[in-house]
Amino acid sequence: MKGVLLHGGFGTRLRPLTHTGPKQLIKVAGKPVSQWCIEDLRDSGVRDIAIILGELAPERVIEYYGDGRWLNVNITYVYQGYPYGLAHAVFIAKDFVGDEEFVVYLGDNILVEGISEFVRKFKESDADAMVLLTKVPDPTKFGVAEFDEKGRLKRLVEKPRKPPSDYALVGVYFFRPPAIFNVIEGLKPSWRKELEITDALQRLIDLGYRVEYSIVKGWWKDTGTPEDILEANRLLLDNKYTNTIIKGEVEKGAIIEGRVFVDEGAIVKNGSVVRGPAYIGRNSVIGPKAYVGPFTSIGDNVVLDNIEVENSVIMDNVEIRGLGERIVDSIIGSNARIVHSDLRPRGLRFIVGENTSIIL
Ligand code: TTP
Repeated sequence: MKGVLLHGGFGTRLRPLTHTGPKQLIKVAGKPVSQWCIEDLRDSGVRDIAIILGELAPERVIEYYGDGRWLNVNITYVYQGYPYGLAHAVFIAKDFVGDEEFVVYLGDNILVEGISEFVRKFKESDADAMVLLTKVPDPTKFGVAEFDEKGRLKRLVEKPRKPPSDYALVGVYFFRPPAIFNVIEGLKPSWRKELEITDALQRLIDLGYRVEYSIVKGWWKDTGTPEDILEANRLLLDNKYTNTIIKGEVEKGAIIEGRVFVDEGAIVKNGSVVRGPAYIGRNSVIGPKAYVGPFTSIGDNVVLDNIEVENSVIMDNVEIRGLGERIVDSIIGSNARIVHSDLRPRGLRFIVGENTSIIL
C-alpha cells in the first residue's frame, strides 16, 4: 500500500504561525504534526509516501524530510500549489499511485492509536474505498456520515446544520484505483471552489462502488486551530512519552518531576523545575530560574530564564528571559524573542508568529 500525505492548504486559522510555513510543520510534543503522520504510516507498513506540497514554503518541507531515508521511508514530492481541494490533491497523486491501493492522510491529523488496524483491514477487503469515522460531540463542524437501515454508508454531508448522525469523517481515507480517479475527473468545484473529497466519495456510493467504513475509537485530532495544537500537544505528551528520558544534562539542584524528555545537548540548570509531562528540545537551556510545567513542549535551541511556562508550545530558537511571569496556554513561534520584565498580571497569553520580537 502507498501513502499520500496532504501537506498543502493555507492554514488561515493558524495565522500568524502559518505566514512563514505550512501548519503541518508545527512541532507538537517534539515533532512536526506531519512527522507523527509519516511515522504512523511507516509503522503501519506504508513506506512509499508522496507528500503533496502547497504554496506555503514548500522548500521547508523538502528541506526537513528530504528523501525520507532518515525516517526509514521513501518520499516523493508532488506540487499542488493553490489548494483546489482534497480531491484535487488526491488526483495529482495519480501517477505516483499507479494501480496500487493507497491511503490518504491529512498532514494535520493525529490519531493517537495509529492506523495499522485499518491498513490491515483495507488490504484484506476488496472495497473500492474505506473511510474512517469517529463519534464527535458537535458534528456540524465536520463531514458527517448517514447510514441506511442496514448500517451501510449512504451519504456524506459536509458540515451539516442538521447532522444525520454523530459520526464524523476522520482525515484518513483508503482507495483502490482506478474508481476514485475516474470520479474525481468528473467532479465540479463546490461553493467554496474546491474539489471536495466528500463529493468524490458520494459519487462512488451513488455509482454503486463499495465504500466501507471503520470506526476510530481512540483519540483523534485535526490540528486546525491554536486550541487544537495545544490539545494535540497535551495528548501526545501524555500518550507517547511514558518514561523520563534524559539525553542532555540535568544539573545538580535542578528538579525533574513526572515524565520529562530532555533531548541531546539541552541543559536544565540548577534552580529550575521541570514538571512533566514535558519535552525539552535539543540544545535548549532551561534556567537557572525557570519552571516548565505540565503539558509543555520546548523546541530546539530555546533559552528560558526567569520565566514559568505551562500548557504551552514553544517552538525552535525562542528566547524568553526576565519576565518573572507565568506563560500559560500559549504558542510561541520560531525565532520569537520575549525579554525583560515589568510586573504584570500573571497568565499572559500569546499566539505569536515566527520571527516576532516582543520586548515587554
Ligand atoms: P484544511 O484544514 O481545510 O486546510 P487549510 O490549510 O485550508 O486550513 P484553513 O481552513 O485554516 O485555511 O485541509 C485539511 C488538510 O488538507 C490540511 O492538512 C491541508 C491539506 N490540504 C491540501 O493539501 N490541499 C488542499 O487543496 C486542501 C484544501 C487542503
